Amino acid sequence: MFQTTAYSGDKVKDYELVIKQLEALLHDETDTIANLSNASALLNQFLDQVNWVGFYLWKEDQLVLGPFQGLPACIRIPYGKGVCGTAVKERKTMRVENVNQFPGHIACDSASQSEIVIPLVKNNEILGVLDIDSPILNRFDEIDQHFLENFVEALMNHIFN
Ligand code: SME
Repeated sequence: MFQTTAYSGDKVKDYELVIKQLEALLHDETDTIANLSNASALLNQFLDQVNWVGFYLWKEDQLVLGPFQGLPACIRIPYGKGVCGTAVKERKTMRVENVNQFPGHIACDSASQSEIVIPLVKNNEILGVLDIDSPILNRFDEIDQHFLENFVEALMNHIFN
């Protein structure tokens, strides 16, 4: 059974721990939906001040809603649209301090103020994105970006084989 851990409060150490927890959860399991579901639940209990954590998966030239934690969300996002579609188009992490100032931002939850979206890339192919929303402005800094990119890399090494 997963125990909710008392994280230390040291951001770097806690991110290192959560990545180890991810690897333990993924160990020996190859089912993509199961692994993405656990990955979103793990991040949701770890991150403070977030209102949506989940995945969109690349299917037939658009992003389609995948496993997530949070309010029901928009189901399909076209290439290049919103923060998620832009992350796919540019193939890079989008760290948005204020979503209200992002042209074309797609508001799924009106509480969202800032957002980070990390593309899932394996063997040079786009497989989807990890999307995290926060109800406060400027929630995500370079440390979050660095470790969330590592989190995604660990995920990519275990699934989508
Ligand atoms: N805000 C995203 C849409 C997805 S929701 O945040 C869950 C975007 O602009 O792509």
